[in-house]
Amino acid sequence: MNETVRLLQAHHSSRSYKTDPIPEEVLEAIIESAHRAPTSTNSQEVSLVVVRNQESRARIAKIAGGQPWIAQAPVFIAVVVDFYKTGMGVEKAGGEQVFQRSLEGILAAVSDAGIAMATIMTAARASGLGVVPIGGIRRDAQAMIDLLGLPRNTFPVDGVVLGYVAEESPQKPRMPIESFRHDEKYQAEALKPAIDAYDRTLQEYWKKTGRTDGLSWSENMAQHYGSFSRLLKSVAQKQGFTIEV
Ligand SMILES: Cc1cc2nc3c(=O)[nH]c(=O)nc-3n(C[C@H](O)[C@H](O)[C@H](O)COP(=O)(O)O)c2cc1C
Repeated sequence: MNETVRLLQAHHSSRSYKTDPIPEEVLEAIIESAHRAPTSTNSQEVSLVVVRNQESRARIAKIAGGQPWIAQAPVFIAVVVDFYKTGMGVEKAGGEQVFQRSLEGILAAVSDAGIAMATIMTAARASGLGVVPIGGIRRDAQAMIDLLGLPRNTFPVDGVVLGYVAEESPQKPRMPIESFRHDEKYQAEALKPAIDAYDRTLQEYWKKTGRTDGLSWSENMAQHYGSFSRLLKSVAQKQGFTIEV
């Protein structure tokens, strides 16, 4: 199999790290790879904040709800949606930016941020590092904004932990492929059997890995997708993001 495809298919998040530093040239190559990633209308509306400072990483670990791997690994990269940068271009050309106040703007920027994050993870893993994406920073987005000194019209969407892995973790199984790949038209009838099978598979996986508190996929979805965060909306509004259209 092609080496890149093999690497992608071997993806797994790692949550146990050595404190060994990442050589500057390795980090630079990872960031330059993400810098090359495509963006909607060439907006380049994504910025990265590279956090190596130990105190800052310990603070982010807390902000994310107590995730020790953020403090343990030597580098945390915050992936920031950046309409501050695009706004400077709009103003320079004599206009007024409104795109950050639309659903289209938010979808475009968040998908660009996701591409940047995936590129960071692929480049990092190809360089022998372990990774774990971190959405937990949105639990207290205001604290992240303050810590990173983010200006108006920017938002810390996610982050990625990078480091040399101390203890490898097994790959987490996925739902059967029929729930993911639909040929020509969406195949809704494929979902129920796929979900039933996956609920069983995931619980076997938790048992095998010694987790007694592991939930089935359906239970996990019910726990996370049955509520929403009003706090996040108010912080986003304060930063300049609303959905007016
Ligand atoms: C956008 C995003 C945010 C995530 N946030 C966190 C997080 O805050 N903490 C964490 O431990 N894992 C986080 N994860 C990792 C997921 O839990 C993980 O990808 C999923 O369980 C599948 O496991 P795998 O990556 O090992 O295959 C996140 C993943 C993504 C894509």
